[in-house]
Amino acid sequence: MSGTQYSDTITDMAPEPVGARRVVVLISGSGSNLQALIDAQSHDRLGGEIVAVISNEPDAYGLKRAHEAGIEAVALPHREYDSRDAYDGALIKVIERHEPDLIVLAGFMRILTPRFVQRFLGRMLNIHPSLLPAYQGLNTHARALTDKVTSHGCSVHFVTEELDGGPVVLQAELAVSVDDTQDTLKDKVHAREHLIYPIAVQWFLEGRLQYSAEGAKMDGHLLPPHGMRLSHEDAAEELDENIEED
Ligand code: GRF
Repeated sequence: MSGTQYSDTITDMAPEPVGARRVVVLISGSGSNLQALIDAQSHDRLGGEIVAVISNEPDAYGLKRAHEAGIEAVALPHREYDSRDAYDGALIKVIERHEPDLIVLAGFMRILTPRFVQRFLGRMLNIHPSLLPAYQGLNTHARALTDKVTSHGCSVHFVTEELDGGPVVLQAELAVSVDDTQDTLKDKVHAREHLIYPIAVQWFLEGRLQYSAEGAKMDGHLLPPHGMRLSHEDAAEELDENIEED
């Protein structure tokens, strides 16, 4: 082996400089969670960079938020595709063009095809407005009120083929009071979502959080089925909310 070959080999083996971790966010609406992620990024608390925001609804306000933050905003209307499979195929192509490390669903109101989920398994997170596994699906606040639950909240979870059924990473809890309505619950849950989603994204981008079939892992340790949980008291304190004394 000549000296030249040797130094070439060393050059080949040198690690690529690691660039910022890349995030693609999928939305359908207002994008208040997207805004929380943008704000975290601007304070260096996201652990990476949002490189594109994609919406299936061309009028989604979240696209404006992305644009204002200088992030590529892509409208990909599902109505222009004949089938769910055709749409998800197009979405995969647009996402992959941005070479993301993580795909973040932030109010993306679409049922995903198995092909789409499998493509990004282990690197796709969602936020859901309930303490999963309670209230998978829609109308979570109304169902919680009907059931007269005393505890409600939100969950960040890995996306799997089961709707709202993937391993839970992090939850924030809130104590439901007798005065709560769908609107007050929605506001309180949203505030908690904005608190925990950037944290979970940062954990993933820093390599602390991993998907496994048995559950989410944090620093190599399997988390309990409800993931980590921020209590009502801790969340209220973070949010500077008044805590009602019983
Ligand atoms: C949030 O409540 C989230 O839990 C659900 O969709 C809503 C999106 O709200 N998946 P926004 O568009 O982020 O304001």
